[in-house]
Amino acid sequence: MQNVQARACAASGVALEEAFTVDEVNLYERLGEETLKQLSTNFYNAVFEDDAAPWFKSIFAASDKAVAIENQWTFLVQRFGGPQLYSQRKGHPALIGRHVDFRMTHAGAKRWIEHMAIALAETPGIDDDSRRRMMAYFRHTAYFLVLGVADVRARRKLQQQQQEQQQEQEQQQEQQQQQQQQQQQGQDVSKESSGTEHTQPSGKPEEQQEQNQA
Ligand code: HEM
Repeated sequence: MQNVQARACAASGVALEEAFTVDEVNLYERLGEETLKQLSTNFYNAVFEDDAAPWFKSIFAASDKAVAIENQWTFLVQRFGGPQLYSQRKGHPALIGRHVDFRMTHAGAKRWIEHMAIALAETPGIDDDSRRRMMAYFRHTAYFLVLGVADVRARRKLQQQQQEQQQEQEQQQEQQQQQQQQQQQGQDVSKESSGTEHTQPSGKPEEQQEQNQA
C-alpha cells in the first residue's frame, strides 16, 4: 500500500504530507454537514451532465445520481472528522475495492479532479484554506485509486494465471496416471494370459482346481 501511496504522489504531484493536511483540522466541524452535502450534489450534478466528456460520464451510467451523492457526502463527513455515517450505511469504505469494477484511468482521475475543483469553488461556505486541503487530498486519492485498482487487477490476473497453470498441471498428472494405469493393466492382462498357459496346460482349469482343493 505504501508503494501505491508513493506512486500516487509521483502521479498526482502531491506530497504525502500535503495530501493529509485534511487531518490537521476538523473539516467536518469547520464546514458542517450541509456544506459537504452541497459539495457532493454540485459535483455529481456536473458529472452526470458531462456532455463535454461523454466517456467520463459513461463511467457513472449504471449509478443512480441520488445514491451516488449520498454515498459521497456520507463518506466525506466521515473522512473529514464527523460521525461514521458512511460505515453505518455500507461498512468499511475500502475505496480501492469499491472502484475495481469501474474504468479507472489517469484521464478519468484528471476529469474527476477538474469536476471537484469546480464544485469546491462553486459551493458556498468553503474557505480557501479548507479548499486547498481538500483539493490536495482529492488529487492524491484519485491517483491512489487508479494505481490501487490497477494493482488489484494485476494481482487477480496473476492469481488466475497461476490457477490455470495449476489446473493444467493437475490435468497432465491425471492423464499420466491414467496412462500408467492403462499400461499397468495391459501388463497384468498379458501376465495373466501367459500365466494361464503355464498353470492350466490341460485346458481343464476347473477340474484341476477341484482336484487341488480336495
Ligand atoms: C478516477 C477517479 C474516480 C472515478 C472514475 C470514480 C468513479 C466512481 C464511480 C463510477 C462510483 C459509483 C457511484 C456510486 O454509485 O456511488 C464511485 C463511487 C465512489 N467514489 Fe469514486 N471515482 C473516482 C475517484 C474518487 C475519489 C478521489 C474519491 C474520494 C476521495 C472517491 C470516492 C467515492 C466514494 C466514497 C464512492 C461510493 C462507493 C460506494 O459506496 O459504493 N472516488 N466512484
